[in-house]
Amino acid sequence: MAEKIILDCDPGHDDAVAILLALGDPRIDLLGVTTIGGNAPLDKVTYNARAMLELAKATDVPVHAGCARPLVRKPKDAAYIHGETGLNGLELPEPTRPLDEGHAVNWIIDTIMGNKPNTITLVPTGPLTNIAMAVRLEPRIVGRVKQIVLMGGAYATGNSGPCTEFNVQCDPEAAHIVFNEKWRSLTMIGLDLTHQALCTREYQKMIAAANPRLSGALNGLMDFFRSTYQDQEAFPDPPTHDPCAVAYVIDPGLIETRRCPIDVELTGTLTTGMTVADLRAQAPKDCTSQVATKLDVDGFWNLVAAAVRNLG
Ligand code: BDR
Ligand code: CA
Repeated sequence: MAEKIILDCDPGHDDAVAILLALGDPRIDLLGVTTIGGNAPLDKVTYNARAMLELAKATDVPVHAGCARPLVRKPKDAAYIHGETGLNGLELPEPTRPLDEGHAVNWIIDTIMGNKPNTITLVPTGPLTNIAMAVRLEPRIVGRVKQIVLMGGAYATGNSGPCTEFNVQCDPEAAHIVFNEKWRSLTMIGLDLTHQALCTREYQKMIAAANPRLSGALNGLMDFFRSTYQDQEAFPDPPTHDPCAVAYVIDPGLIETRRCPIDVELTGTLTTGMTVADLRAQAPKDCTSQVATKLDVDGFWNLVAAAVRNLG
């Protein structure tokens, strides 16, 4: 049985790869895509999500637009990495499926409450505003979700600040709500893990060769992503964060994890938006949260290539 997931995202180059992976791998049943303002404003990331589904010929998948801004803080974007459109470098087809009606937060709640308990996995790859809103509006979803596997946070080095990661730093209050709920299981796929998922030129060649129809799009995506990561963060190749969360749902064997309590700093002068993972030996082990520590890099890119190949 394929894992039913809801992908809550802000495409974004790596979110776009996460969408392709979720669509192409037969072990995932992508129930819907929900969008959140993050890498670019809500209207742009919502358009990008729809256009990516069009590109992948997956117009049966609904897209619901979510929150346009964080709970408390002013919105910010990541145009310095993803360009003004959120997906610069990529020629996208015009979406033919109209945007689905209904706010993402309501759709997330209705979908979770309308399915059997313990069957739906939430995969957030943007700021956590929609998920926090859903939890506050219908707290029963927490006990019904099978697991939440999110891309966000870092237990060591940050990206948008010395110890903060972009998604969590965008809306730390929302992240605080999400990390403090009693999920059956919460896996933080943070920068500690995703900085291992570098799309080298060899891996780019491999995934582009897997699907001649999509090779132009994949090269456009990765060439732009590489250039901004080189200019802005001195990376040789782009860390392809978001599909790592989908990969964990498909094959947890690809990612090593460590169980630990995780909280979000809200009042630091230098650390607001930091995910604080208690990795001490004496930390309580009865929590249901864990951080991702080590990636099987080859296994991950082979998974992406196989999924892209399946998209035809
Ligand atoms: C995260 O921030 C966004 O720019 C990426 O899409 C990813 O979700 C990495 O910090
Ligand atoms: Ca993202």
